[in-house]
Amino acid sequence: MSTPDVETTVTGHARLERNVTLMAAFSLVVVAIGGIVEIAPLFWIDNTIEKVEGMRPYTPLEQAGRDIYVREGCYVCHSQMIRPFRDEVERYGHYSLAAESMYDHPFQWGSKRTGPDLARVGGRYSDDWHVQHLTDPQSVVPESVMPKYGFLRENELETEDASARLTALLRVGVPYSEEDVKNAQADLKAQANPDADTGDLATRYPKAQQRDYDGDPARLTEMDALVAYLQMLGTLVDVNAAAAQEDLAKETGR
Ligand code: HEC
Repeated sequence: MSTPDVETTVTGHARLERNVTLMAAFSLVVVAIGGIVEIAPLFWIDNTIEKVEGMRPYTPLEQAGRDIYVREGCYVCHSQMIRPFRDEVERYGHYSLAAESMYDHPFQWGSKRTGPDLARVGGRYSDDWHVQHLTDPQSVVPESVMPKYGFLRENELETEDASARLTALLRVGVPYSEEDVKNAQADLKAQANPDADTGDLATRYPKAQQRDYDGDPARLTEMDALVAYLQMLGTLVDVNAAAAQEDLAKETGR
């Protein structure tokens, strides 16, 4: 007998709908519940990304190149995320794994593809090709609408702030060691010089490629850094093995 009949429920709701303050208060409660359900779990899980073998923070030289990539707005025309669709996978290679951009601040997934996706461009072309293409894209792809970036060959690369850049990334969670930060400037210069003694660079940054990138060994330019960055993209992780690992983890619930 005490269950509210239809009439009381309807009048109750009518009152709620006609009273703006009451309506706002109840709306807030409803939205808050929805928000908490979505946000709360994030406080209790350590990481939303599966770790994959091979992924490491960028070397100071690659990071410098990455900063130039961001500065020049390459992301305006290029994405760095291969979606798991057949046409993309056939054109660009294995679809991107979340872990492959785990050290990206800011990430470069992008939302516009005037040019091709660059997530796996590393090793696809020679350094010479990149230098030529960046200097004068139309000389290699006549119909290209990509702007010319030849000035990067003239610009001396700033190296004094290498440690500061790594420190900034360290503060947002990129696991650089004390040694990485201390040696940043030396590491940066050594990676771009084929004759330099790189010390334990290769142990701290596996698969770091050491060479002169811009075709001018006498100078360290912004072109060196940008090409070093491009040539590293997509080369760190053995994606097929990592994707299989990820699938297995999903199936077995880890
Ligand atoms: C206005 C748009 C635009 C901007 C900005 C731009 N690109 Fe491009 N990019 C293109 C287009 C279009 C192509 C395809 C034609 C070609 O190869 O030139 C391309 C091609 C490329 C390729 C070859 C990719 C492949 O798989 O063949 C690379 C590498 C590249 N761009 C790097 C860069 C970098 C690095 C920057 C920033 C310094 C940049 N692009 C800025 C439009 C752009």
